[in-house]
Amino acid sequence: MYTAIAVDGPAGAGKSTAAKRIAKALSYFYIDSGALFRAVTLKAIQRGIDMSDTLGIIHMMKDTVIDFKDEKVYLDGKDVSVEIRSNNVSANSSYPAMISEVRDVVADIQREISKTRNVVADGRDIGTTIFPDAKIKFFMIASVEERAKRRLLELNASGKNYELRDMIEQINKRDRIDSTRVVSPLKKADDAIEIDTDGKTIDDVVSEMLDYIDKRLNK
Ligand code: C5P
Repeated sequence: MYTAIAVDGPAGAGKSTAAKRIAKALSYFYIDSGALFRAVTLKAIQRGIDMSDTLGIIHMMKDTVIDFKDEKVYLDGKDVSVEIRSNNVSANSSYPAMISEVRDVVADIQREISKTRNVVADGRDIGTTIFPDAKIKFFMIASVEERAKRRLLELNASGKNYELRDMIEQINKRDRIDSTRVVSPLKKADDAIEIDTDGKTIDDVVSEMLDYIDKRLNK
């Protein structure tokens, strides 16, 4: 039986940075579940499918293959790791994530990976739906201002020039869609521990999480 560590929380709370570092420290496989939804979103955009066209997106899923290899995300055999980080994909990614057929495909990919190795998975529903029996669950939070500033730094580092207030608006909108959707909404699992990352460095956050993991795994 392999170990799964769940890292959930809203957009920009620091999940992926922390989860990646934890996976590296423990030599676990890192699953970026958001990247799977982003890949679906990218394909829908490329195909010109409207985000409100649920049937169109479900139909598209029938000939869609998403895979992780060497920390990269492949969509139908093509490395899309950079493209899925664009602001357009971010802004639209919560729409395909509302569709239960899309979530089922993304869930299967993650559960398949976890059958053969220890994993750290980050997302919105890992501790509640994907790995409800995970021994270790984190729920990371931070104020919307702090989260928007982090996203802005990432985007503007790649040469873009977005405004903080637009980023706050986009994050608030994604949070609202993610936490109010019918299937697997963003929600803290009852047995998750909450990590507030406001004002903390990533080093402090990761060492707090690794201390907790160490205690849980060696209990
Ligand atoms: O985490 P990230 O920002 O990459 O996620 C992109 C989108 O995918 C989120 O806005 C959310 O709607 C969706 N998502 C989800 N469940 C997950 C991970 C991501 O619904 N486990």
